[in-house]
Amino acid sequence: MLKADLHMHTDTDKTDKLHYSARQLIDHAASLKLDVISITHHDELWWDKKMVAYAEKKGILLIPGAELTLDGKHVLVLNITEEDIANVKTLADLPKLRREETLVVAPHPFFRMGSCLGKKLLSNISSFDAIEYSHFYTRFINPNKMAVKVSRRYRKPMLGSSDSHLLVDMGTTYTYIDARKDPRDIILAIKKGNIRIVTRPLSLSYFLRKALFLFTRIRLGFDIPKSL
Ligand SMILES: [Fe+2]
Repeated sequence: MLKADLHMHTDTDKTDKLHYSARQLIDHAASLKLDVISITHHDELWWDKKMVAYAEKKGILLIPGAELTLDGKHVLVLNITEEDIANVKTLADLPKLRREETLVVAPHPFFRMGSCLGKKLLSNISSFDAIEYSHFYTRFINPNKMAVKVSRRYRKPMLGSSDSHLLVDMGTTYTYIDARKDPRDIILAIKKGNIRIVTRPLSLSYFLRKALFLFTRIRLGFDIPKSL
């Protein structure tokens, strides 16, 4: 089984200016014994051959991905190309991306942010291969619950990931994938549901600190802090 986290950001993401590099993220991923990761910057494909080779030396496979903003809503796309991204401008364009070896995921779809898909996930459900189970929840506050219901109703696999904006975001929620260490094989295994989420809730105090940080960033334009 491959240990995977397929939703992460770094300091070169133009939307979220973070405080750690791809190299630091890869080092941290290696310390968590992750086998597969994807750096999914907003609205562009991150792909740095030096870093991909660096990750490979550490035993980590990188899958090309991005978090697109379509009709104001975030959509995670994996194992895609720059040309794919150029061809997709709205949610209605998503079917163009759906190939055997690509994956379209609804990230944190029912979180209370304007960029989350919400009901648009339901009206575009046939365009999605999987739904994210986000690390950002506690025992008592869990916006993933609705996502779980939708995944069961529409038989979409759930993918556990961190959507890391701080390195400490990684490690509480991830996915084991029963596949060979090959992008296409990994995507096919996810689509078949040959996966298992490992997740544990955040502490309430950390969750509240992070919620405050998200509020100040989104509503007041504050920078993302180095730590919480
Ligand atoms: Fe994200």
